[in-house]
Amino acid sequence: MSEYLMEVKDLKKYFKTRSGMLHAVDGVTFSLRPGETLGVVGESGCGKSTLGRTLVKLLEPTEGQILFEGEDITYARGVQLKRLRTRIQMIFQDPFSSLNPRKTVRESILEPLKLNSALSARQREEQVLELMNTVGLAQRLAHSYPHELDGGRRQRIGIARALALNPAFIVCDEPVSALDVSIQAQILNLMQDVQEDQHLAYLFITHDLSVVRHMANQILVMYLGQMVELTSADVLFERQMHPYTQALLSAIPVPSLEKRRQRIILRGEITSPINPPAGCRFAPRCPYVTERCTAQTPELYEAAPGHFVACHRGGEVG
Ligand SMILES: Nc1ncnc2c1ncn2[C@@H]1O[C@H](COP(=O)(O)OP(=O)(O)O)[C@@H](O)[C@H]1O
Ligand SMILES: [Mg+2]
Repeated sequence: MSEYLMEVKDLKKYFKTRSGMLHAVDGVTFSLRPGETLGVVGESGCGKSTLGRTLVKLLEPTEGQILFEGEDITYARGVQLKRLRTRIQMIFQDPFSSLNPRKTVRESILEPLKLNSALSARQREEQVLELMNTVGLAQRLAHSYPHELDGGRRQRIGIARALALNPAFIVCDEPVSALDVSIQAQILNLMQDVQEDQHLAYLFITHDLSVVRHMANQILVMYLGQMVELTSADVLFERQMHPYTQALLSAIPVPSLEKRRQRIILRGEITSPINPPAGCRFAPRCPYVTERCTAQTPELYEAAPGHFVACHRGGEVG
């Protein structure tokens, strides 16, 4: 068996639109070990949610391959898909819209448990209480409705629902972006605690780089559907190889005065994801652009051990 829980190879998801084919995810490749977190970062619209939804099998891929626990699940259907629904889960950005407003906390958490036919009704009720305990929801809230709770508690319900069937992999799509800053850390800590306890792997989607730094082992940087860089979180914050990553990271404040960096402001047209031209999609905004960049699409390659980049400059940035 492979050491990896999930292996994704050149995954693509296109949407047919009236003006042409929209390349939402256009060639994403990564491997994830059990218990690890892969952070996915990039500007709004770069395909993060589409990638996540494709991995949890809410969307059918256009091309590429997804291996999960050694099994090809790219086009999983029927019984295989049903089994995957217990192993692969998703936590959404806005728990309010992902929860049924007419269901109490207990009912919401009970719902996924009903898919586990091995449990008796009584065992399910016990599981609900146990899950509430795991995610830090007081038992007195069992009969409350989502609108009676704050955002943090609602997200705790979302986490409990995701954990209900003992998954191995959870896609977390901006799980704290809708929450007050004061509550974000509590939810992130909870997610880290349950990850450690249950040896969960996360795909952690965010546009907040300071969040991903603390959550992720590896970070994948996306630009207009394509992955431009992938490496460990530590290395990425030390040495960015892609000009886009460098610009993205220059926007976060650094506490140390010595390491103060210049914020890079990107100018230039953003390429349309609909029928995008050949060449590097970042070229129109890249400070290092050459003729080759617009003529030839840069392939992702391993520029240093475990450090992948798709750039003709070969990682010589700055
Ligand atoms: N169901 C869909 N049909 C058509 N286009 C879509 C659909 N879902 C997403 N898109 C488009 O795909 C691109 C990526 O969207 P998304 O994955 O939501 O990005 P992100 O999560 O990074 O903000 C965007 O251009 C978006 O408009
Ligand atoms: Mg999104």
